[in-house]
Amino acid sequence: MTGEVTPGEVAPEGDHADGKHASHAARTHVVTHLPGDGVGPEVTDVARACVDAVAARHDFHIDWRSCPLGGRHYLQTGEVLPDATLEELRKSDAILLGAVGTPEVPPGVLERGLLLRLRSELDLYVNLRPSKLRAGVAAAVGKHELSDLDFVIVRENTEGLYAGAGGSVHRGTEFEVATEESLNTWAGVRRCVRYASRLAASRSGRLTLVHKTNVLTHAGDLWFRIAREVAAEDGVELSYAHVDAACLWMVDDPKRFDVIVTDNLFGDIISDLGAALTGGLGYAPSGNLNPDRTGPSIFEPVHGSAPDIAGLGLANPAGAVLSAGLMLSHLGEEAAAADLDAAVSAVLAAGAPASTALWREQLLAELGVAR
Ligand code: IPM
Ligand code: MN
Repeated sequence: MTGEVTPGEVAPEGDHADGKHASHAARTHVVTHLPGDGVGPEVTDVARACVDAVAARHDFHIDWRSCPLGGRHYLQTGEVLPDATLEELRKSDAILLGAVGTPEVPPGVLERGLLLRLRSELDLYVNLRPSKLRAGVAAAVGKHELSDLDFVIVRENTEGLYAGAGGSVHRGTEFEVATEESLNTWAGVRRCVRYASRLAASRSGRLTLVHKTNVLTHAGDLWFRIAREVAAEDGVELSYAHVDAACLWMVDDPKRFDVIVTDNLFGDIISDLGAALTGGLGYAPSGNLNPDRTGPSIFEPVHGSAPDIAGLGLANPAGAVLSAGLMLSHLGEEAAAADLDAAVSAVLAAGAPASTALWREQLLAELGVAR
């Protein structure tokens, strides 16, 4: 083992790179760190330090691997997601992703070629996006109690308008036509709704379908019938909101919602609104889940690479730390996940830190790591 990273390779780190065998922990999870671009490396470094801190407390060990994919890597090598790297990624138990994107890379190259391809290849059919108001954040709407705003969006993550169906003809002429088609399969919708319904059963027992069934009558009908059937089978109470009304209620009366299930595009849009309501994109975590566990799930903050503040030490790592919490929960480390969530809440309640370094220091202090 040379420890040298060749382009696009998923490489072992730490103990393995050194040929040492330092850990005597009860459990080991293999996690690939894909820091990406911009603020991605800064925020996921903090998340990693927090994960290692809770791992030590709860007697497990993370065997970290690293993978250099992203905008910078693409500009240097021309590689977006080589097949060999994808095969390596499949061997991890989970992937912690920072953010990808640099201004020099044209739109769509990394979004379609890396992020959406990973979601599809790894069958990450649920995008789990919790929105929880915590004490100490600058909430966008002053009137809500903390308990009023604590919902989870379950976004379908491999179909709909993001499936890539469509095309264009006569490009660059006055006859140009461009289409994007929304694909909704019975099995694809059903498995996503099933996940949401079981999540609702484990929380309040309330599930809301968000769609636009009055206009998108074909897909809407499919989603509605499936949601009714699945909710009845799981014994959860189903309500329905059109997506436009759902935006209004998320701002005006968010306690209507506990678990929301929705299609890919609506979920993308309303989860940014959920983030804005709970402190901003910097606080929003996400899990791209393969609930069947036929491959690793990917955990990433909802914010992007934020090139304007990259390298300034100003990035808020809370979304990355909370995403790492979702990852630990998915890996079965519930107590450690709860520690991360509580640490973020405690740091916030004391007044949001002004720099990435202060966040790191205060989070690690909360997690009992002396510095
Ligand atoms: C997100 C992002 C992505 C999405 C883009 C970058 C492909 O907006 O994770 O919400 O649309 O899912
Ligand atoms: Mn988005």
